Amino acid sequence: MKGKLIVFEGVEGCGKTSQIQLTQEWLQSFNTSVVVTRQPGGTELGLHLRRLLLEAGSNLIADRTELLLYAADRSQHVEQVIKPAIREGTIVLCDRYTDSTIAYQGWGRGLDINLIDQLNAIATSGLQSDLTLWFDVDVEVGLARKRGGGDKFDRIERETIEFHRRVQKGYAHLAASYPERIVRIDGSLSQEVVQQKVQAILTSKLKT
Ligand SMILES: Nc1ncnc2c1ncn2[C@@H]1O[C@H](COP(=O)(O)OP(=O)(O)OP(=O)(O)O)[C@@H](O)[C@H]1O
Ligand SMILES: [Mg+2]
Repeated sequence: MKGKLIVFEGVEGCGKTSQIQLTQEWLQSFNTSVVVTRQPGGTELGLHLRRLLLEAGSNLIADRTELLLYAADRSQHVEQVIKPAIREGTIVLCDRYTDSTIAYQGWGRGLDINLIDQLNAIATSGLQSDLTLWFDVDVEVGLARKRGGGDKFDRIERETIEFHRRVQKGYAHLAASYPERIVRIDGSLSQEVVQQKVQAILTSKLKT
């Protein structure tokens, strides 16, 4: 099988991490070579950047600095993890990728989308996802799930509800703009039903 990059996207608590785990188990059940990774934090360098970006309390990050730190994480991750894995024929399941930066730093923070597109192109050296699954849930639903889970909110999660609504709008706009690459899944359904949908989409997509 050819290596592929499959990305899991959406607002906080939409189910990315849960679905990535279920998808990994499913792919491994028929001996597919699969790796699960994430942005930020998919490399050793990236783990440091992730801490700087997400640790609550570190609020003195200017918007453009934030954008560049995400880009630095992405560049290292593509070079060190994603490209080698794809070359070996592995399916890479990645928790967030370029669309997160469009949604959060573009729509959320209000930075210029064209500049972010260019920066994403530099950071990835043009490597786009083969498929991006967007788990669409209302921001209130996602944040309530996270609150219920008892996790402490990180720096981004503690942003205003309006910020998260703009991010959600960004995802909707991206899905409408790139219908071949981005598939919307109703993330408000049960985990089992969402996973069935993921499997159906991947089954038709991985054939090629
Ligand atoms: N379809 C679902 N229905 C109800 N609860 C769910 C569903 N999917 C995930 N959850 C629960 O919601 C919480 C958040 O899920 P998860 O961590 O997978 O989201 P996430 O998108 O990775 O969040 P984050 O953006 O913070 O990383 C978890 O407690 C998880 O068990
Ligand atoms: Mg997660």
